[in-house]
Amino acid sequence: MTMDSNAGMTRAEAFERSEDVGSNHSDNATFGDIVNARLGRRDVLKGALATTALMSAGGAIAALATGKDAQAAVGQFAFKEIAHGASETHVVADGYSADILIRWGDPVLVDAPAFDPMNQSAAAQEKQFGYNNDFIGFVPLPADSNSADHGLLCVNHEYTDEEVMFPGMVAEQEGAKFGRMTKDLVEIEMAAHGASILEIKKEGGKWAVVKASPYNRRISLRSTLMDITGPAAGTDRMKTSEDPTGKQVVGTANNCAGGITPWGTYLMAEENFNGYFWGEGSLHAEAAKLKRYGAPGGWYAWGRYFDRFHVNKEPNEVNRFGWIVEVDPLDPNSIPKKRTALGRFKHEGAEVIVNKDGHVVVYSGDDERFDYVYKFVSEGKYDASDRAKNMDLLDAGTLYVAKYNADGTGEWLPLVHGQGKLTAANGFASQADVLIDARLAGDAVGATKMDRPEDIGANPVTNKVYVMLTNNTRRKGDAVDATNPRPSNEWGQIVEMTPAGGDDHVATTFSWDMLLLAGNPKDPKVGAKWNPRTSENGWFACPDNCAIDHQGRLWVTTDQGGSWKKASGTSDGVWAMETDGELRGMGKFFFRVPVGAEMCGPCFTPDDQTLFVAVQHPATDGAKEFEGFGRDSTFEDPATRWPDFKDGMPPRPSVVVITKNGGGIIGS
Ligand code: FEO
Ligand code: CA
Ligand code: CA
Ligand code: CA
Repeated sequence: MTMDSNAGMTRAEAFERSEDVGSNHSDNATFGDIVNARLGRRDVLKGALATTALMSAGGAIAALATGKDAQAAVGQFAFKEIAHGASETHVVADGYSADILIRWGDPVLVDAPAFDPMNQSAAAQEKQFGYNNDFIGFVPLPADSNSADHGLLCVNHEYTDEEVMFPGMVAEQEGAKFGRMTKDLVEIEMAAHGASILEIKKEGGKWAVVKASPYNRRISLRSTLMDITGPAAGTDRMKTSEDPTGKQVVGTANNCAGGITPWGTYLMAEENFNGYFWGEGSLHAEAAKLKRYGAPGGWYAWGRYFDRFHVNKEPNEVNRFGWIVEVDPLDPNSIPKKRTALGRFKHEGAEVIVNKDGHVVVYSGDDERFDYVYKFVSEGKYDASDRAKNMDLLDAGTLYVAKYNADGTGEWLPLVHGQGKLTAANGFASQADVLIDARLAGDAVGATKMDRPEDIGANPVTNKVYVMLTNNTRRKGDAVDATNPRPSNEWGQIVEMTPAGGDDHVATTFSWDMLLLAGNPKDPKVGAKWNPRTSENGWFACPDNCAIDHQGRLWVTTDQGGSWKKASGTSDGVWAMETDGELRGMGKFFFRVPVGAEMCGPCFTPDDQTLFVAVQHPATDGAKEFEGFGRDSTFEDPATRWPDFKDGMPPRPSVVVITKNGGGIIGS
C-alpha cells in the first residue's frame, strides 16, 4: 500500500476501504459456517426464521413485526424513547438533562492555555483534553468507596480527524491532506492521542471538573513513557534502537474502549495501531505477520517525520502497540504498563470480571472482519483487602480464544506455547511469539471468525457475557455460520454467552445464544431479529460499545460510520436493551448524537443516577448524507459546530453527562 493512499478520507472510510486489513486467510470456520451447519443455508438467508431457533432464552421472538403490544409487558426501562433522526445537536429522552462536561481543548492541567483552534500547539494539547473521546471509566473517590458524586473520570482519546481539527486541510486531490501535514501538526495529533484523567465532583446536582486537582493527568502518545511487562517484555522482537531493553515505549495509540479493574486501575485498549505505521510491508523481514495485522496501514503522515512509525526504518516498533495498557489513576506519577500477557491484537476493549473463585477474567474483542473473541484468566487471585497484591495480576495467566459451535456450545481454546500447533515448527518459538502474534495463534488453533468483535459486557448480576459484533460486509453467503449468520452484514449482532455452570468464567466451555440481529426489522432483506414489541425507534444498526449498569441492565451504543443513512437512517446513540423475560431483544432509544458523530463510552456511576457518554468525531462520518448539507465536513465548513455552535469554532468531541431531572436512576 502506498503511503498516501488513504489521504482525504475520514478514518472510518480508511478502515472500510483498506484491503483486507486483517487478512485472515486461515481455514478457520466462520460463525456463518456454524449457523449454516446448524440450520441449513436457505433458512439462514431468511434470517428471521433461522434465528428464531437460536433465540430460545426469551421465548418465541418473531422478527418483522414491530410496535405491537409495546406496553403489554413490563420492562426494565420506563423512559419515553426518542425518535430516529439526524440533527446538528444531541437529543436525550424527555425528563433528562444532557450537559457538556468537557470538550476537546478544554484544560485538564491547571496551567493549560485556553483552547485557540487557530493557534494550536503540541505543548498546549498535552495539557488540554485530547481528541475523539472513546472509553469512559469512573473510579470513585475516596478510593474503595461507592461514591457516586465524586471520582476520577478516565477517558480514552482514540484518534484524530485532521480535516476538522486543523484549518486548510481540504483534500482537493488524493494525497493533499497528508501533503499539508507539517511536523508541528503531526505532533499536535500525537499529543491529542492517549487519555485524560479528571477529578470530577457533583455539586448542586451538576457535575464539574475539579480544576486544580493533583489527580488530573494527560497521557499522550507523544511523551508518556510506559513500561512493557509480562511474557513478551524484553524479548528480541520488542527491542528497538531507542529501547534496546524491549521494556519501555513512548506512548499508546488508538485507545478505543477499555475497562476498570476492581482494584481501581484503568485499562486502555490499543486498537487500530496498524494505521499509524508507514513503509513497505512486503520489504519487512516479517512481512506475512505484518500483513495479518494490516500493517503498515498508512493512515497518518507520522512516518514522514518519525522513524519509529516507519516499519522499514524501525522494524520492531509495530510490535510494541496493540496491547492492553494498565494505568493507576490514583497515582498521577505512576508509569502505565503494557500488559503483554493479554495478547496483541486490535483490542476494542477490556471487560474485567472477578470469577467466583477469585481469578480475574478479562474479555476482549479483536475489531477486525473475521477476527476473534478472547479472554484472559489470571494465574493469581484478586484480594479485595490488599490492593498492592492485585497491581500485577495481569502479568501472568492464560489467554484463550473463542470457538463457537453450531449447537449453541462453545470452547475457549488456550493460546499456550508448546500446546497443539503453537510450537516452533509452526512459527511460535516462545510464549512471546504466541502473544505478539495472537491473531496467528488464533488461526492455528481454529478460533471462529467473527463479524468484527467490538465491546464485550460481562453482567455481574447474571454472569451472562454480551459480545457486540458490529458488521462485516465482506462475508460471502457461503461463509456464514451460527454466530455470524448473514452475508454482507451491514448491521451487526449481539451474541450472549453463558459461562459453564452459569457462572464459571474460568471454565473452558460455554453456551451461547443470539440476543439480536440488528438492522431494520421491517425490511425482510435485512433479516433482522428483534423482540416484536420493539418500536420503530427501538432498533439500531452496528452495536459497538456497551455498558451494564449496577442493576444488571444492558445499554448499547452504536457506530455506523459513514453508512448511517443506509444502515438505519438515524444517527448513532444509546439504546436500552431488554435481555430477559418476555421483552428480551427489545431496544429503546435513549440518546442520539449530533450528525457525523459516533457514540462511545457509556459509563454509570455506582448509583446509576449519572450516565457519562462520549460523543466522538461530530460532523465527520457520513456528513454528505445529512439533509441540507450534502458535502464532506472541513474545519472551515463542518456539518455541525456542536457543541459550541460559534462561528470559527470547529466541532469538538466531548463528554456528555446525563442525569434525570429531579434525580433518579437513569432509564427509570
Ligand atoms: Fe475503535 Fe472498534 O472501534
Ligand atoms: Ca471509536
Ligand atoms: Ca469502538
Ligand atoms: Ca466501531
